[in-house]
Amino acid sequence: MKYRTLGKTGVKISEVGLGTWQLGGVDWGNMSDDDALKILRRAVDLGVNFFDTADVYGLGRSETLIGKFLKETKGKVYVATKLSRRRWVEMKGWPAKYTLDMVREDIRFSLKNLGVDSLFLQQWHCPPTEWYRAGDIFELMEKAKKEGLIRHWGCSVESVEEGLLAIKHPGCASLQVIYNIFRQKLTTELLPQAKAANVGILARVPLASGLLTGRFQKGHKFSDGDHRSYNADGKAFNVGETFAGVPFEKGVEFAGAIGAILKPTEKAPMAQLALRWVLDQDGVTTVIPGATKISQVESNTAASDLPPIAAPAQGALRELYDTKIRPAIRGTY
Ligand SMILES: NC(=O)c1ccc[n+]([C@@H]2O[C@H](COP(=O)([O-])OP(=O)(O)OC[C@H]3O[C@@H](n4cnc5c(N)ncnc54)[C@H](OP(=O)(O)O)[C@@H]3O)[C@@H](O)[C@H]2O)c1
Repeated sequence: MKYRTLGKTGVKISEVGLGTWQLGGVDWGNMSDDDALKILRRAVDLGVNFFDTADVYGLGRSETLIGKFLKETKGKVYVATKLSRRRWVEMKGWPAKYTLDMVREDIRFSLKNLGVDSLFLQQWHCPPTEWYRAGDIFELMEKAKKEGLIRHWGCSVESVEEGLLAIKHPGCASLQVIYNIFRQKLTTELLPQAKAANVGILARVPLASGLLTGRFQKGHKFSDGDHRSYNADGKAFNVGETFAGVPFEKGVEFAGAIGAILKPTEKAPMAQLALRWVLDQDGVTTVIPGATKISQVESNTAASDLPPIAAPAQGALRELYDTKIRPAIRGTY
């Protein structure tokens, strides 16, 4: 496993981290505590020292399991969490305004779940674009930082516009973005700007919710409790968070075309090559694939040791994106 510095935090984190939305036990189907803890353990054994979670994942369950794991582990793990979507779920919509008291309350909820005194990295969890334009949300984080509740703050954004607004604030340490072979717009429109501002990039949904592993066929049915069934067209939340905004059947076709370019093998399967592609893009700090099985963690962490994707394949993937994939992406991005 190789390590890279996460923007203004100055901390070296593994270039393959672990996304833990799956540990919430909702949106991806159920997961037992035991399986969740095994996934965390295996990731750390393989060199992962960065977990991404959120207060909303299972309304505290993902954070609580991580807290339990942190108590037993001897290794140093940096945990990034997020605030605001839990309120959005509980209130069935956004509050008119986010106040400092709400931020403090959210942070204390996460501190308790994680069993720590201060959060390593707190991120806004995809709040409305208008809040980025107004800028008050950045000052709330600065205040929480001054109070010692958090060490660093960043933003999980949905669009280039939001990302560019966030990195203008000198306190913004990192951006979390939907970034994968399906979503190449950021390569030129956000990553260079973030790098110039010394803002770390956490690439989420790097496998397009599993599509970029090449394992799905047309007509595949996901279970009712899986967001890939109820949010495939963006009915519950931003369509980009499911299959990166690409309609499923088209995504299966694109994954086939990507496989023909990347030529996966048993030693370097498609999931690893898709993660490798993200790691090869200038400005990316870390990919944070989610996993529901230990074997997935084992395969995904190995992406760090693969050689870079060769230039002709990179070029062919860009052309495929420009000509076929880009017009198929739904939602603001
Ligand atoms: N708004 C936000 O801030 C936001 C939104 C989305 C995600 N995130 C974060 O980003 C993380 C990653 O995104 P994501 O989990 O949505 O999408 P993802 O990483 O693109 O896809 C994860 C899914 O892909 C499949 N998978 C993973 N590794 C595999 C492998 N080696 N071989 C075959 N299949 C594999 C698994 O599907 P199966 O379960 O079907 O096996 C897994 O649940 C999340 O866990 C979360 O921490 C944040």
